[in-house]
Amino acid sequence: MDTIKYGIIGVRGMGSGHYRCLEAIPDAEVIAVADNRPESLNLFQHRLHDWDAVADSLKGVGHEARAARQEEWETTPAPPYNGPITFFSDYREMLDLDDLDAVVVATPDCTHVEIVLDGLAAGKHVLSEKPAATTVKQLSTLEAAVAKSDRTYQVGLECRYLPTYRTMRRMIIEENAIGRPVMTWCLEFRGPFLRKVDNWIMSQEKTGGVFVEKTCHFFDLMAWLVDSVPKTVTAVAGQDVVKEIYGIKPDIFDNGWVTIEYENGARGMLGLCMFGAGRKPLSITVLGEDGQMEGLFGPQKIEVAKRGVPQMEVIEAGADNEHAHLSHGGGVYFEHLAFIDSIRTGRTPLTDIETAKWSTLVGLAAEESARNSSTPVSL
Ligand SMILES: NC(=O)c1ccc[n+]([C@@H]2O[C@H](COP(=O)([O-])OP(=O)(O)OC[C@H]3O[C@@H](n4cnc5c(N)ncnc54)[C@H](O)[C@@H]3O)[C@@H](O)[C@H]2O)c1
Repeated sequence: MDTIKYGIIGVRGMGSGHYRCLEAIPDAEVIAVADNRPESLNLFQHRLHDWDAVADSLKGVGHEARAARQEEWETTPAPPYNGPITFFSDYREMLDLDDLDAVVVATPDCTHVEIVLDGLAAGKHVLSEKPAATTVKQLSTLEAAVAKSDRTYQVGLECRYLPTYRTMRRMIIEENAIGRPVMTWCLEFRGPFLRKVDNWIMSQEKTGGVFVEKTCHFFDLMAWLVDSVPKTVTAVAGQDVVKEIYGIKPDIFDNGWVTIEYENGARGMLGLCMFGAGRKPLSITVLGEDGQMEGLFGPQKIEVAKRGVPQMEVIEAGADNEHAHLSHGGGVYFEHLAFIDSIRTGRTPLTDIETAKWSTLVGLAAEESARNSSTPVSL
């Protein structure tokens, strides 16, 4: 196999981010894209014509102006495209291409499992966006299909590949820098979701809920950083502020707290707010017997405090990250390097089906607990 030949399914938001990362990898080549919405393909064609023009026009404006400009790009016919990428409106036809090695699935959450199954059945390696699935039933179907397949399945939990969290994991687990991990917590205080096609992201049914759609990333990181698997999940949550937005009435929680007990005795807590007005960066902390370590997503920094040591150490984990300008601080670029390595060597990916499973199960359990008077859910 020379370069890995990719197809991308769903090329609007995240699919475009994947494309930009793949462009930066000499070992990868995107030969096809598929999207069942002509406007999304048209927008992608504009991007291929002049990526910067589209990006610049969407930068630094509010939600509404951004959505209006995006719609303009989507509906204004793009200049003709004569490059090497073939466009498909039906991804199944794209999967018939013999020279396609791998596909990226970047469609709405509830569609992932069906498309992944089709991709594996067609003999393609699959990198599926998170969450792996939106229901327990879908998850079981996915697990069975991955177990049966000899192709690589990797889930798009790209945070694990970021220098900040890779460094934290190495320091905590391999170097015992803060002693045995006892507690972990994550705070994400942000504004509402941006608009999506049909605003699927505001629908409980299409996402499995906000704790599945959004915080599966952090449930994964927390378990990885304390080196355990979740055992019990309890949650309180509500919809208090984001009750009407973009002309629709979302039915998802907009704030809540989730507590997790891990098999190894560690305890975790996650706070999510979807109407935050401040600029508090997303952070994940692990507290060990001997100290504490906080990883800040935006600044790509780690703050380490050790018991009995007055000065805090600050590690600029992102300092050598030349790909930080790419999707999600370069996390998506790094996840593709890992995916390609797995395709070439047959090694199990770091974010494999087990990782996919646990990150989704905690989210589903949090949704269940919060909707059931905070009854603890055992996994
Ligand atoms: N890993 C991350 O950090 C991260 C960040 C953002 C989004 N995502 C994930 O990426 C996925 C896509 O999100 P988005 O923001 O790009 O959404 P989006 O609504 O902007 O784009 C989804 C695209 O998929 C297309 N699509 C839907 N069904 C399809 C089908 N059956 N066949 C082909 N195309 C289809 C739509 O037409 C649309 O163009 C979601 O699962 C989301 O959770 C992940």
